[in-house]
Amino acid sequence: MNEKENEKHGPLSGVEKPGDSGLSNLRPKKLDEFIGQEGVKRRLSILLEAALNRGDSVDHTLFHGPPGLGKTTLAHIVAHEMGVNIKTTSGPAIDKPGDLAAIVSNLTPGDILFIDEIHRLRRNVEEVLYPAMEDFKIDIVIGEGPSAQSIRLDVPPFTLIGATTRTGLLTSPLRDRFEVVLHLDFYDIDAIEEIVLRGAKILDVAINDGVGGAKEIAKRSRGTPRVANRLLKRTRDYAEVRADGYIDRQVAREALEMLGIDDKGLDKLDRRILTTIIDKFDGGPVGLDTISAALSEQKDTISEVYEPYLLTKGFLERTSQGRKITSKGLEHLGYEDNRLL
Ligand SMILES: Nc1ncnc2c1ncn2[C@@H]1O[C@H](COP(=O)(O)OP(=O)(O)OP(=O)(O)O)[C@@H](O)[C@H]1O
Ligand SMILES: [Mg+2]
Repeated sequence: MNEKENEKHGPLSGVEKPGDSGLSNLRPKKLDEFIGQEGVKRRLSILLEAALNRGDSVDHTLFHGPPGLGKTTLAHIVAHEMGVNIKTTSGPAIDKPGDLAAIVSNLTPGDILFIDEIHRLRRNVEEVLYPAMEDFKIDIVIGEGPSAQSIRLDVPPFTLIGATTRTGLLTSPLRDRFEVVLHLDFYDIDAIEEIVLRGAKILDVAINDGVGGAKEIAKRSRGTPRVANRLLKRTRDYAEVRADGYIDRQVAREALEMLGIDDKGLDKLDRRILTTIIDKFDGGPVGLDTISAALSEQKDTISEVYEPYLLTKGFLERTSQGRKITSKGLEHLGYEDNRLL
């Protein structure tokens, strides 16, 4: 992976996340190992089976949804199930149209090209993709100035898989060229609990279904497998040092409290976002730029990594004037509800 691919805009976004180190063995490789997202799995399995039966490549597919829910994992699963190679890159990593043209021309027929953070492709690079996706052709400009000539070359038939946390930022010509668009949403607690138990088995961590340790971790994992796996590892460390390595509900609770994660899965920055809106801006509405300046945190981190979960939980509201705390948010942080009156 090159430097650019590493240059991420939040702790949970991008190709390989810092939090994923050592988690790669937890990544499900086959569709039936992938827990949850039943609707997405159903559509994918039909897509894969149909393509396999026809001896065809899979249609261009876009995965979108908040960070850490399994977009990259699913792209690799598609490659594995189809028995084809996957070439991985990311939007900001491709500087020039020629770079993308080179990547596409070097694919073998049937290969998957996975472009992570596809909403961050430069516009002139993106334009290379249009004919490539539609007709498996690319246009190359030779020469400069008035004598410049554009020639059209064939590229091997391939499948583009795009991933984005922000479909809203995708241009419509690009979005329209994806034949399949699949949205990943936060997982329910039962699915996350199953992911924790699966992770524990792979990592050989002593945790038992019946004693609530996995459920306790699941409850605090923000409906996000990446977070679940990370919390499992941190809880294991705590259990090894403090509880003979065995995770039950009490041990999980202590470990997660020590990490500053509360019973709704909010961490310190989540709470700082909410308390800043309450204390400094009278509960809002307040613009994202202002919140980001007040917290000295990157805008993208707040809007892509933190906000989706706060919105889902109903602690925060997005209005046309900006972000606003809700009475549920106030209550969760222990403020009186009449504070906003
Ligand atoms: N359904 C699942 N079952 C088990 N583990 C999962 C599942 N989905 C994701 N994971 C685990 O969560 C981690 C994060 O998944 P992944 O990298 O695919 O997320 P992503 O959607 O690509 O995130 P980002 O937007 O940040 O790139 C992976 O290490 C994987 O092991
Ligand atoms: Mg990813």
